[in-house]
Amino acid sequence: MSESSERRADLARPDSHPARTHTCGDLRGDDVGDDDVVLKGWVDTRRDLGGLVFLDVRDRYGRTQIVLRGEDAEEAYETAHRLRSEDVISVRGTVQERQDPNDDLPTGRIEVAARELVVLSTADPLPFRVSAQEETELTATEAMRLKHRYLDLRRPELQRNMRLRNEVYQTTHRHYNEHDFVEVETPVLMKSTPEGARDFLVPSRLHPGRFYALPQSPQTYKQLLMVGGLDRYVQIVKCFRDEDLRADRQPEFTQVDVEMTFATEEEVYDLTEGHMQALWQDVLDTEIETPFPRMTYDEALRRYGTDKPDTRFGMEIQDLSEALRGSGFRVFDSIIDEGGKVVGVVAEGEADRGRSAMDRLEDYVTDEIGAAGLIYFTKTDDGAEANVSESALPENYVAAACDAAGAEADDLVLVLAGDAPAVYEQAGQLRLHVAEELDLRPAQGEEPWNFLWVTNFPLLEYDDDAERHFSMHHPFTAPQPEHLDQLEEKPGAVRARAYDLVLNGNELGGGSIRIHRREIQQRVFDLLGIDEEEAEERFGFLLDAFRYGAPPHGGIALGLDRIVMLLAGADSLRDVIAFPKTQSAQEPMTGAPGPVDDEQLKALSLRTEVDDEAQPFQEEKHKAARQLSSG
Ligand code: AMO
Repeated sequence: MSESSERRADLARPDSHPARTHTCGDLRGDDVGDDDVVLKGWVDTRRDLGGLVFLDVRDRYGRTQIVLRGEDAEEAYETAHRLRSEDVISVRGTVQERQDPNDDLPTGRIEVAARELVVLSTADPLPFRVSAQEETELTATEAMRLKHRYLDLRRPELQRNMRLRNEVYQTTHRHYNEHDFVEVETPVLMKSTPEGARDFLVPSRLHPGRFYALPQSPQTYKQLLMVGGLDRYVQIVKCFRDEDLRADRQPEFTQVDVEMTFATEEEVYDLTEGHMQALWQDVLDTEIETPFPRMTYDEALRRYGTDKPDTRFGMEIQDLSEALRGSGFRVFDSIIDEGGKVVGVVAEGEADRGRSAMDRLEDYVTDEIGAAGLIYFTKTDDGAEANVSESALPENYVAAACDAAGAEADDLVLVLAGDAPAVYEQAGQLRLHVAEELDLRPAQGEEPWNFLWVTNFPLLEYDDDAERHFSMHHPFTAPQPEHLDQLEEKPGAVRARAYDLVLNGNELGGGSIRIHRREIQQRVFDLLGIDEEEAEERFGFLLDAFRYGAPPHGGIALGLDRIVMLLAGADSLRDVIAFPKTQSAQEPMTGAPGPVDDEQLKALSLRTEVDDEAQPFQEEKHKAARQLSSG
């Protein structure tokens, strides 16, 4: 039977051992013969050969083999016998050449023959293995890993990701410093800034019934810094958004936030491209070509069905409406007549997909992307076929549509019909789904690195349900000057001086040239249904600032976590944030968000009325708890 945790706790000696002379990644062949080294770290593995114990001791810097011989160091050898993985130890001894060199390890040519071994802290059996040697055999569930994040962080993958993140901070600071930017901290307790998500609110004790909002971004502050004459501002800053979470979204995340006075779009592109070049150079030793290609929002939507196109593979969306106009096929005719579109994507060489694969694709189209249905054409050597009868859709139309799509023999054309732009967005999702199935999308973190600027965004988007316009970016984005006079008559046609930076289908950042004149800002507020009184109440400080000589300005914010995720080749932001939140915005280790006691609520003049029904995550919480308790 193994020793109890209580008895093992006695192993740890309170007396101190000398300070470490080297880390576990330091020693090399040149050090052989050094007879007084002290190493400290975690026991990664232990092999007991009877009379001889081998330990691998590990820290952030590497791993070193320690050997203990019973006949040379009896006490240390006896202690080594009782060690377990993840005990923290200190050893003192002599560097010697290894009999069985391991060239995979930088320290693999040497070992330390220990004469003293002190246990600094014992470890209970771990809920999952973190050994550097078993990096690929991670079997723990994510819930378990997040519950014991401090153990998870010991794994080589997360150690690497945290170091990579640090490199991103350093390069970022260096880049903006070299370009004369000033890092300024902006408040965390602030008045709400609209970025399109819900705010996290903080009740004020001193002002009962009033709340601070945590910044969704420091947008208004950075603009005020420009009015304040700071000229060039940068900040690596935490932002908070209470929104639905996905693999690439966290409720608190980090931006590299940038603003420049008198900026033009070109200056922002230049500066940001330089930043990306420096990051890829420093972190991956990879050269990135600049300038990055640019594509208008309209073109991105038309060709890829999204404002963050993955341009690493083809399968672009083809407009088949003209080829199919007047075919007599009722579904297409009515949509085309009403101004809708019939669009297709070509899956090369996929003409002979089996019936069941096509059924699954049809289910995906209707259930996951909300399209009405999937029509498909197959091009053969001597014609073309559709999955509807020839009497409904004559073959010559099918053949013409296949030609319009650029399909060749044995290709499959997947066809969707509906209102634009919705049908383009659906086709864009279908394109990504099929590309995933066909393995056309390189894994995250691999070349090529297709950076892309998406430009010429509409200023506003209309929400049919709310029956009003919303800002496509945020309300401070400047309209393009030549569209200013259409602002009230044709708001939907007005383009913004806004841009997004996209990498391999991920939105890395977004920004714009801002409105710096009070009257234009008020006209945009009017379109958003924010009247003068409300504008005064919510943004009076900004409108006031614009009275006193506000310089033109613009900037961008980059999602730092997303950049690190892509550089690290990780699948989720959770793998590049030290203490991330789960899908349901919880932190399993500390249990946040947690209840607070009545006294605290009273001091804040708050009362809670919790309706169990209104807690959508209750069930998930229980599930996670069950999963944790069942190991
Ligand atoms: P935007 O809202 O586009 O712009 O945000 C900028 C970038 O921040 C990242 N991002 C996120 N990352 C992780 N989790 C989230 N929940 C999340 N939300 C956004 C994205 C995004 O591109 N104030 C403006 C910038 C400006 O106009 O200068 C802003 O915040 O990578």
